[in-house]
Amino acid sequence: MQNWLEYFKILGFEEIYLKKTPKKDQRIEKLKQLEKTVKNCTKCPLYKKRKQAVFADGNPYSPLMFIGEAPGEEEDKQGLPFVGRAGQLLTKLIKKMGLEREDVYITNIVKCRPENNRDPLPEEIEKCVPYLLEQIELIKPKVIVTLGRFSGGYLTKMVVGIKQYRGKWFEFNGIPVMPTFHPSYLLRNPQERWHVWDDMKEVLKKLNLKIPE
Ligand code: URA
Repeated sequence: MQNWLEYFKILGFEEIYLKKTPKKDQRIEKLKQLEKTVKNCTKCPLYKKRKQAVFADGNPYSPLMFIGEAPGEEEDKQGLPFVGRAGQLLTKLIKKMGLEREDVYITNIVKCRPENNRDPLPEEIEKCVPYLLEQIELIKPKVIVTLGRFSGGYLTKMVVGIKQYRGKWFEFNGIPVMPTFHPSYLLRNPQERWHVWDDMKEVLKKLNLKIPE
C-alpha cells in the first residue's frame, strides 16, 4: 500500500479516498441459523405432531414476500410452504404476475401444521411470530402480500373480516403490505379470484413491474 501511495503522490494526487469493501451480506447465514432454530422449535404443542417445521421457500433477496397461514398436510410432508392444492393455485397466481416461485419469498405466520388443518390458535401465532419478524427483518422485502385472515390480521392490525380490508395498502415496519384472500378460500370461492388479481396488479405497480396482459 505504501508504494502505491508514494506513486500517486508522484503523480500529483494530494488526497485519495479509499472505498470500503462492502460488508459481506450475512443474510443467508442468519436465515440458515433461524431455519435450524425453527426446525427444532418446541415453543408450542404443535411440534409434537409435526413431521417437520416448514420455514420458507423462494428467493431470500426477493423484493416480494408472500405470507400465508400455516403448513397443511402436504407442506408438513415436504417441508415446503404452499405445495398442496392451495399452493398450486398460489404458484399459478405468481406465474400470472409474470414471475416464478423462485423470484419471490414464501413463508407462513405459523411454521408447524395444526392438526387436521384447523385454524392456528392465538397462542400458537404469538409463540411463532418472532420467527416471521426475523425473516422480514433479514429479507427486507419491498412489498409484503398477506394471504388470508391470520397473517393479514396480524400485519395490518385489522380486527374486522378480511373482505373489509383486502385490496387496501397498509404498512408494517415501513414496508407496504397488501392483504388479499387465501388461495384455499379461492378454491372454495373461485368467483372471487378476480379480486386477488386486482390486488396483485396493485402489487406489480408498487414494484414498478409490468402487468402482464
Ligand atoms: N396454506 C398456508 O397458509 N400455508 C401453506 O404453506 C399451505 C397452505
